[in-house]
Amino acid sequence: MLIIRSAAELETQISRELANGRSIGFVPTMGALHAGHISLVDRAVAENDLCVVSVFVNPTQFNNPDDLATYPRDEESDFKLLAKAGADIVFAPTVEEVYPAGLENRERHEFALGAAAEVMEGKHRPGHFQGVAEVVSRLFALVRPTRAYFGEKDFQQIAVIRNMVKSEGINVDIVACPIKRADDGLALSSRNALLTPEQRRIAPEIHRTLRESLRYMETHSLEETRDWVCRTIDAIAGLRTEYYEIVDARTLQPVTNWAESPWIVGCITVYCGKVRLIDNIAYKKPN
Ligand code: PAF
Repeated sequence: MLIIRSAAELETQISRELANGRSIGFVPTMGALHAGHISLVDRAVAENDLCVVSVFVNPTQFNNPDDLATYPRDEESDFKLLAKAGADIVFAPTVEEVYPAGLENRERHEFALGAAAEVMEGKHRPGHFQGVAEVVSRLFALVRPTRAYFGEKDFQQIAVIRNMVKSEGINVDIVACPIKRADDGLALSSRNALLTPEQRRIAPEIHRTLRESLRYMETHSLEETRDWVCRTIDAIAGLRTEYYEIVDARTLQPVTNWAESPWIVGCITVYCGKVRLIDNIAYKKPN
């Protein structure tokens, strides 16, 4: 496995691979890797000639400086896991490599991300999706992937990236991969490493409640179901719902009744102490 730190070196290596006609599977990550990330790498390895993984905590997508400062990092363990999973190239650049003009002086481009970027995470984390679009488009330009793999835990992010790829005219196949969960149901996330043992004990209540709401929705309206989920989670000491929205899975816009769309997903963000956890559940999905 090749570990590359410089953008120029990555470009040279990628040009060589593309000249040899190889397909490239790309998994962008912010490190602190877990089995969820590795499932994306497994798929990229299986479906492409070459698997490239980036490990880069992107400052421009953090709207909260504390969140950036405390974001977990463990490069040594990441590299071990990636080598074992069969990644060919790891791109682990410095901030200067990704933003050569500097974070303050970099040229800012306003990405057209559509209405999907205005709701939920977009509303609660101003600038977040512009930052994600900025780094992902920069990484796509360097890696020139055939396919790029994203986890469905960040369900809204995938829709926003699809919009970005379309509006920027980038030719890449965006592949959405299912959420990986711990045995107790908690969605795997790098942020889980920040939970205290007591917080880790109550965090699975988020998924448990969402699963229970699948039964509740059979006899209740969409609004009643949304309120029930918020009430149930907020009744657990140590958990606080930031938002729970039940949306059309393609547009990410709120729906008002169960018949409104063939594909309906509930997206939640919950504070467990200071740790911000996200998850989602499908209420309806087309076959
Ligand atoms: O999902 C993430 O970890 C990040 O948002 C991404 C896509 C790697 C961009 O920094």
